[in-house]
Amino acid sequence: MKGGDAHSDKGNTRTIEVFDTTLRDGEQTPGISFTNEQKLTIARQLEKLGVDIIEAGYPISSKDEREIVKLICEEGLSAKICGLARVLTQDIDACIDCGVDLIHIFVPSSRIQREHTTKMSEEAVKEQTYEMTKYVKDHGFSCMFSAMDATRTRQDFLVDLFKTAEEAGADILNVPDTVGVSEPFSIFELVGEIYRAVNVPISIHCHNDFGLAVANSLAAVKAGASEVQVSVNGLGERAGNADLAETVMSLNSIYGLKTNIKTEYLFETAKLIERFSGVQIPITKPIVGENAFSHESGIHAHGVIEKSDTFEPGIMTPEMVGHRRRIVLGKHTGRHSIENKLSEIGMFPPKEQLDEILERVKALSVSGKKVTDDDLFTIAEVVTGEVAGHERVITLKELSVMTGNNLIPTASLKAVVRGKECTSAQMGVGPVDAALKAVQEIIGDEIGGDIELRDFRIEAITGGSDALAEVIVGVKKGDRVVTARGARDDIVMASIEAFINAVNRLLQE
Ligand code: KIV
Ligand code: ZN
Repeated sequence: MKGGDAHSDKGNTRTIEVFDTTLRDGEQTPGISFTNEQKLTIARQLEKLGVDIIEAGYPISSKDEREIVKLICEEGLSAKICGLARVLTQDIDACIDCGVDLIHIFVPSSRIQREHTTKMSEEAVKEQTYEMTKYVKDHGFSCMFSAMDATRTRQDFLVDLFKTAEEAGADILNVPDTVGVSEPFSIFELVGEIYRAVNVPISIHCHNDFGLAVANSLAAVKAGASEVQVSVNGLGERAGNADLAETVMSLNSIYGLKTNIKTEYLFETAKLIERFSGVQIPITKPIVGENAFSHESGIHAHGVIEKSDTFEPGIMTPEMVGHRRRIVLGKHTGRHSIENKLSEIGMFPPKEQLDEILERVKALSVSGKKVTDDDLFTIAEVVTGEVAGHERVITLKELSVMTGNNLIPTASLKAVVRGKECTSAQMGVGPVDAALKAVQEIIGDEIGGDIELRDFRIEAITGGSDALAEVIVGVKKGDRVVTARGARDDIVMASIEAFINAVNRLLQE
């Protein structure tokens, strides 16, 4: 879409390419190092997400790096695999040896970087750019050229340098805001200038030193860039790169532009990178943060329960990004939220009891406790007396599981069902499966086989191998479906606790 219409996206059906650099710039985040196995898993997840290009690494940097870039290339993904190289033959040869699809060559172009790193004159930078772009092309590879620190480079020289790369055959030109000093208006001007001077596609690579990386990337797209360089959770040098989810959702939902990203996998991708990187996603992070679609205050929760668009963007829903909406209980909770949550488990207390439940929920929150749905249900049971004094239909007494690479996972379980002690031992494809089968057997024998396990979701809600696991289970009897949660640091216990909670609620009706 050359020729002046780049600055208006009216009626624009451009598809913007997504170039992911989580494995390269993302791994340059101080303190982060992915294992090779993690890198392969990340590459497969990026493929599932639909990114167009995966920057897999910087092959010259180590033998290990070359090995993993090669392995990613051998995966046969449909995303193009890119390797990074300085404008040096040995760097480019390392990329060639790995079998990448695209070689990304870069050279410092600003005066400050040239004088204090490469000691190259502008003329030498141009010459080396020409030679090395040609070298990549002569070897039959696609070439991306980056003028490092472009946004602090003398503009005439920068445009000249990009033209030189174009002349030598570069397939795409990248404009890095290496130290994140740009703002949307200046990026718009700069990219527009380059866009008008060359005839190859432009990519934008923004760092987030002032929190403007996403805004700057969007401005560059407005000015004609057709590719955004992003990373999952915004990982990258210093304050990171433009965040993939934020950039893609803004392009889609605000600008009405297309990408090939399957946005429903954004949340799970962010969670994977959170786990592998050990960098926790802030609760307030847009799109993938825990609070991105959470509501506590009475007015907001009431509105959202009636119609979600009242206090959410509407042009972006939790379903679109694979997240979930949560009505959170706390000191700002209103009666509507309580009523709504209780109705989900079939409790409909009268107004006076509802007021008392609300007061107790607020008091619990003010005392400093995070109020969970289970806390609410316990309060409601006590206030309404609906279940108070009743035995739980099924109570777990003991659970042990055995698993290992030479064992069929087996679970033995003891539970009391309506006052009678029952035991079961079952095998499964994994320990959770075996334990669930053991509970199901007891339920089938003692209560009847018409309780179906419907929904089963495991979510690691904190990072690390000692993550607290939150399990959500739905059970069905007739046309009633009840869901319940379990949260433990032991995933098998959390699963069984959630299942038993759900069955108890279903049967207490
Ligand atoms: O920030 C930067 O300039 C880079 C280049 C290698 C493109 O990451
Ligand atoms: Zn960078």
